[in-house]
Amino acid sequence: MGKKKIVIANWKMSLTLRESIQLAKEVSAESANVKNVDVVLCPSFTALPSVGPLLPQTVALGAQDVFWEEKGAYTGAIAPRLLTEMGCRYVLIGHSERRQYFQETDAMVNKKVLAALRAGLIPVLCVGENNDERRNGQKDYVVMRQVAEAIRGVTLLGTQELIVAYEPVWVIGTGQAVSGDDAEHMSQVIRHTITDIIPPVTMESRCRVLYGGSVDAKNVADFTHRNVIDGVLVGGSSLKSSSFFGILSRVR
Ligand code: 13P
Repeated sequence: MGKKKIVIANWKMSLTLRESIQLAKEVSAESANVKNVDVVLCPSFTALPSVGPLLPQTVALGAQDVFWEEKGAYTGAIAPRLLTEMGCRYVLIGHSERRQYFQETDAMVNKKVLAALRAGLIPVLCVGENNDERRNGQKDYVVMRQVAEAIRGVTLLGTQELIVAYEPVWVIGTGQAVSGDDAEHMSQVIRHTITDIIPPVTMESRCRVLYGGSVDAKNVADFTHRNVIDGVLVGGSSLKSSSFFGILSRVR
């Protein structure tokens, strides 16, 4: 708690290579004005080698997914080392769109988290309930299970860190975020779940818990001014430098 806040941009599959380079240049140019916020950009795999070298020290590179094996006959897959080779420090894992469209299970997510940590990447583990689970009153249970299964066997040794992002599936891309109180509640649930597996002191120093889902310049401060919310994961509003900087300038 009380850590430096972090803002992670997930560009998803929204930009061409040219658009990615342009946006990375704009973010880099303006990033000198952003103090006390860690900024991470997660472009498509194909843009990583072009975007990485454009970024100043203050802006880190992340990928949107990773495979758990180190090398071998896995057509189309990207190993953790291939990401560190591109200069990635962070990697999104278990995003709801991967769970939905690519049938990723908690067991697969767990293997990815462990593999990312082994390679020196910081996993940004994404969790969150869908609409039905919310309506059935299962949201806390669903998120607890997703977190517990994803970090099974994780110890966080040396310089390893972990980020967990709470992204309620039913608000992603809708323009309607959950309330700050809702996000704070789930951040507490996630923190308690983590401390069942990782000692509380380790959690305090090496884990950050974020909120994601329709974050914009108007609502960001309602999440980030809370001690238990260490930052935000941003989709749509990260695709234009003006809206992204609107967010960065309002982080509290
Ligand atoms: P939006 O900010 O577009 O709702 O997307 C959130 C998200 O999925 C980030 O990973």
